[in-house]
Amino acid sequence: MSDPHFSSIAPRVLKAVIPAAGLGTRFLPATKAMPKEMLPVVDKPAIQYVVEEAVAAGLTDVLMITGRNKNALENHFDRVQELETVLLRKGDQEKLAKVMHSSSLANVHFVRQGDPKGLGHAVLRARLHVGNEPFAVLLGDDLIDARDELLSRMIDVQQERGASVVALMEVDPASAHLYGVATVEQTLDDDVVRITGLVEKPAPGTQPSNLAVIGRYVLRPEIFDVLAHTAPGKGNEIQLTDALHYLARSEEAGGVYGVVFRGRRYDTGDRLDYIKAIVQLATDRDDLGPDLRAWLFEFVDTLEAPDAPTSTLDQPALVP
Ligand code: UTP
Repeated sequence: MSDPHFSSIAPRVLKAVIPAAGLGTRFLPATKAMPKEMLPVVDKPAIQYVVEEAVAAGLTDVLMITGRNKNALENHFDRVQELETVLLRKGDQEKLAKVMHSSSLANVHFVRQGDPKGLGHAVLRARLHVGNEPFAVLLGDDLIDARDELLSRMIDVQQERGASVVALMEVDPASAHLYGVATVEQTLDDDVVRITGLVEKPAPGTQPSNLAVIGRYVLRPEIFDVLAHTAPGKGNEIQLTDALHYLARSEEAGGVYGVVFRGRRYDTGDRLDYIKAIVQLATDRDDLGPDLRAWLFEFVDTLEAPDAPTSTLDQPALVP
């Protein structure tokens, strides 16, 4: 640690909270009867990558905040005896291991959000389970490439500074209005900034910086009291960004810091980013990559070069 002002006073971070109760309206009709977090990314649902990321950072106690279509999520992290028996009988160990992996990954708990009143409201539902400890929040539709470190760095920063910590990423100013955006001060650590203010989805051209909040947080439990008193904000939803803005400005509970992430991130809640995520992750795989790359080369040849982006999708252009 290069900043000398901090001591390791924080209790350990052991629990991960994964909000997965949003309506996923950008993905309708696919999300009519299934949460968007269950959409497959190559051959695993998005949420399994997120749970694997939590476990890789040492967080094996996972609480999912679920919504109206919770059954698919619960089933995915449970045993499926009939399927296991069939695969066992066939002697297909490889597929059996795949089926059993998600049910043995972590201790997964579930709580219903009730009305989807916003991300802040979803996080508040974790209060009873989390108790009085710092905890991580991982958005269930936001994937961080397993080859790039983020969550363990955020946990280290939380422990060193005793603060709440959010993940930030540099965005194109033209897409800043799609995110929570931070006002920051430098620290002695190259990848850490102190946050002095946050604004959710600023009007185009009014963003205080090009540092946007992405879906990873390591929060002190004081956030719960703040959330309980946070009025609905943008979109008439209780915004986690608004509660963090309060914590950042009041310096209550150690303030808020940002870890600037420069790795690969995939927003699977956005249709165009979702397609890009599948192509990027599949081309890197040993089993699918060679054939997919060969096909992509031929396919690209059949395309006409676009003059300018023609898409009207509201995609945030963050994925490298
Ligand atoms: P989003 O804003 O991306 O989710 O929330 P959404 O509302 O489902 O998406 P669209 O815009 O309608 O397509 C980010 C994360 O917060 C969760 C979502 O499930 C997602 O993981 N969330 C959001 C909740 O758990 N509860 C809410 O009330 C809102």
